[in-house]
Amino acid sequence: MAKLQVVGLFFLILNVGFIFAQNNATQSVPQYLALVADTKIASAQVQDFVVQQMGKLKQQFPDIAAQIDQDMQSLTTSNPTLPWKNPADYHTTVFYLGYNATLMQSDFYTQFQPGKSYALQSSTFVYIPGTIMCTPVFPSPKINIANKCPHITLKINKWEAFKSNAVLEALFVNGGPLQTQYQADFFMQQEQTLAKRFQSMKIGNDTVDVYIIKTNYNTDKHLDLTGVAQYCDDAKSKETSTSSQQLNFFLSVMIAALSYLLF
Ligand SMILES: *[C@@H]1O[C@H](CO)[C@@H](O)[C@H](O)[C@H]1NC(C)=O
Ligand SMILES: *[C@@H]1O[C@H](CO)[C@@H](O)[C@H](O)[C@H]1NC(C)=O
Ligand SMILES: *[C@@H]1O[C@H](CO)[C@@H](O)[C@H](O)[C@H]1NC(C)=O
Repeated sequence: MAKLQVVGLFFLILNVGFIFAQNNATQSVPQYLALVADTKIASAQVQDFVVQQMGKLKQQFPDIAAQIDQDMQSLTTSNPTLPWKNPADYHTTVFYLGYNATLMQSDFYTQFQPGKSYALQSSTFVYIPGTIMCTPVFPSPKINIANKCPHITLKINKWEAFKSNAVLEALFVNGGPLQTQYQADFFMQQEQTLAKRFQSMKIGNDTVDVYIIKTNYNTDKHLDLTGVAQYCDDAKSKETSTSSQQLNFFLSVMIAALSYLLF
């Protein structure tokens, strides 16, 4: 009997060790920090918003109606058909570490509070035909964000999601055409509206036409999401990593308890 209890104790120690090792693993260097919205809620809101803003852009710029119709063919539901795709999730990046442990000493990292909720609201839509759709956001409460133009990538086609940074920086900073408005918090003001086309903008090595439309937040469809602060890693799925950790923890405790009681 005593021997079996030793075996039980061995299992218990093994499992506790396993849990500690796992907790250690969760503190490994994340790829980036982000405010992540619930995918179901976000995809429904994004779909309504995209449909509305593309319709308004079509009225405003009838010369690109054919291009808008072509893009909208792919975007008739919240699950687009190629060539458009949804981003892996809807989030606002706070700080990109790229797995670099040195950057865990940065204020962006140390001030980050995982689990905290932020409002992500917008009535501004940025569109490059056949290429990418994104929206600037201004998380509330305020949080220090490393990116010059905090945003959510809404839909992607030719360009990857990270290119939203370059698109919004071309518009809003470094002498971009909407720098004055951006600095004056124009895009945070609910009732302000604007619709513009900027032709032949240089973004990276590409030259593209950029469309931006801001509608009235109060009277038109808009984005009103809750982003939860999370350590992120695109190589792992966020939800499964959290739930599988919880499951593993639960199983470890159960196995430890059972083995101790049974033997
Ligand atoms: C946890 O991580 C620390 C620092 O990286 C390391 O020294 C320690 O051995 C690890 N503990 C376990 C149980 O893996
Ligand atoms: C990690 O970040 C630090 C600080 O910015 C930088 O000096 C270093 O070169 C980076 N390391 C790697 C492997 O990129
Ligand atoms: C632009 O093109 C050059 C030469 O092909 C390449 O080295 C550079 O990385 C490109 N820059 C961007 C931002 O894609």
